[in-house]
Amino acid sequence: MTADRETPVTPVLDVRDLSVRFRMRGGRDIAAVTDARFSVAPGECLALVGESGCGKSVLASALLGLLPANAETTGSAVLGGDTDLLTAGERTLARTVRGRRIGLVPQSPAAHLTPVRTVRAQLEETLRELTGVRGAAAVRDAAGEAAARASFPADHLDRYPHELSGGLAQRAATALALIGDAPLLLADEPTTGLDRDLVERTVDELRRHTDEGRALLIITHDLAAAERIADRVAVMYAGRIVEIAGSRPFFGAPGPRHPYAKGLLDALPERDFAPIPGMPPELGALPDGCAFAARCTRADARCTDERPAFEDALACHHGLTGRAHSLTKAAADA
Ligand SMILES: Nc1ncnc2c1ncn2[C@@H]1O[C@H](COP(=O)(O)OP(=O)(O)O)[C@@H](O)[C@H]1O
Ligand code: SF4
Ligand SMILES: [Mg+2]
Repeated sequence: MTADRETPVTPVLDVRDLSVRFRMRGGRDIAAVTDARFSVAPGECLALVGESGCGKSVLASALLGLLPANAETTGSAVLGGDTDLLTAGERTLARTVRGRRIGLVPQSPAAHLTPVRTVRAQLEETLRELTGVRGAAAVRDAAGEAAARASFPADHLDRYPHELSGGLAQRAATALALIGDAPLLLADEPTTGLDRDLVERTVDELRRHTDEGRALLIITHDLAAAERIADRVAVMYAGRIVEIAGSRPFFGAPGPRHPYAKGLLDALPERDFAPIPGMPPELGALPDGCAFAARCTRADARCTDERPAFEDALACHHGLTGRAHSLTKAAADA
């Protein structure tokens, strides 16, 4: 794992001021994502972390064009330097982006796999759809190769999803996600429901695909998994990214700069095991100032009055370590 890679000029994904609002009938709008700004470079893994309900999956859905009709997006999310995912339109997203330019590693592989078809049949179908491979023998060979890329055992290819363990179902889903050879992999909670050993194997495999040159945006509330896999970490709270940092300084020394990020780490069983008191605010009723103020031991009048801007990869009036992280160029430019 490399903490602070230099980022080439064109990121695989460049997200600028991305906001998502859900328009609610007769009620307050829900500010699910606000002004998210980050980029992911080829060969880099960015982990987006934060508590349940903070807007991570909504952000992912915005990138894939899979938001419901009552959602409104602003900002931009440019893929490969040429396609703004927020304005591309469903036809482009369906035909050229999902599966082809963004490989989707699903949250729930069991639900993602078709229950009545074997893994081999599903791999072969996706191969026919996304690649030029034709002819029964060639497709069969390609399915074997696709399975091997995700370490899915060949002798399980003729099984149905319900005959697979959680770990093998995840590998089958990963094999499907890799077929289009997409430059960006998007994995939303890929380790949910897996035991620790399988979490580690799954993230190590995803890391391997990143090391082959793909970019990986992994969304997770599992900080141990994020530490294991990510080059950089983006911490989200109440719909906003509040800190982006290199994994090494974030998880090691000097540690996070944002009090919420520090709270998340301190809550880990292997650290203080001390949960952050209180609950995140409702995304339909966010306070004017810092959304974390009600839970923050460092909060003062300025924090409750004035929302901290996201500057130098931090959104806090009283950052913890008082120094700039050694960020990648992408984060520093963001
Ligand atoms: N279709 C929707 N309509 C209204 N609110 C939604 C919709 N989908 C998600 N939300 C709200 O957006 C917020 C963020 O949800 P989500 O992105 O799923 O959180 P996370 O993935 O971080 O756990 C939640 O408060 C959720 O209730
Ligand atoms: S801005 Fe203030 S309340 Fe918000 S995290 Fe920083 S110190 Fe805490
Ligand atoms: Mg989610």
